[in-house]
Amino acid sequence: MTQDEMKRHAAWAALQFISKDSIVGVGTGSTVNHFIDALASIKDSIRGAVSSSEQSTAKLKQLGIAVLELNDISELSIYVDGADEINGQKQMIKGGGAALTREKIVAAVAKTFVCIVDSSKQVAVLGRFPLPIEVIPMASSYVSRQLVKLGARPVLRQGVITDNGNQIIDAHGLHITDALALEQQLNNIVGVVTNGLFARRPADIVLVGSGNGTQIIK
Ligand code: A5P
Repeated sequence: MTQDEMKRHAAWAALQFISKDSIVGVGTGSTVNHFIDALASIKDSIRGAVSSSEQSTAKLKQLGIAVLELNDISELSIYVDGADEINGQKQMIKGGGAALTREKIVAAVAKTFVCIVDSSKQVAVLGRFPLPIEVIPMASSYVSRQLVKLGARPVLRQGVITDNGNQIIDAHGLHITDALALEQQLNNIVGVVTNGLFARRPADIVLVGSGNGTQIIK
């Protein structure tokens, strides 16, 4: 089975967690694109979706799924999204697709976070995947210097502007043993909008697609 087929298996397995008449929070990325295809197959039984990126919004609309504004709803039962890495505590690195800030906002509102990944995303220690950090453009050099002090090798992602008009710095070389503390520490650097560590708000359920089908971790 290819990596993309594993992603598709995990994505379709997420449908079992979608309740009738619910509003569904939708993440961003290639795994989520499979989930949006799956969601389209039950679009008449849901109220609509809240999207975490312009990219997902376009695909949702193209498939006829109503896209609602987060500010117009008071609660969200479920959020479904992929991850770049996930550890045994269901903490994640996200932001490979530069959508981390809106992803973190929608995830914060949702009661249940269902993470859909292929088995290559499971790690013992987070950090092999460079940690994405969204920064206000005028602060990128300052933030990079602070990251060097923390032992990271910052690389400005060239040619990428986020949906919020900001830049992404990828922090290489981190070995993240205390994700909660690092998430907080990075948020405290002036100029950082969000970092891609999802430790304060980890996943609740992980669906891992592999050659043997999809494993459900609760
Ligand atoms: C988007 O910004 C990311 O957080 C994605 O969720 C993550 O990069 C996973 O992407 P894939 O599903 O494409 O692997």
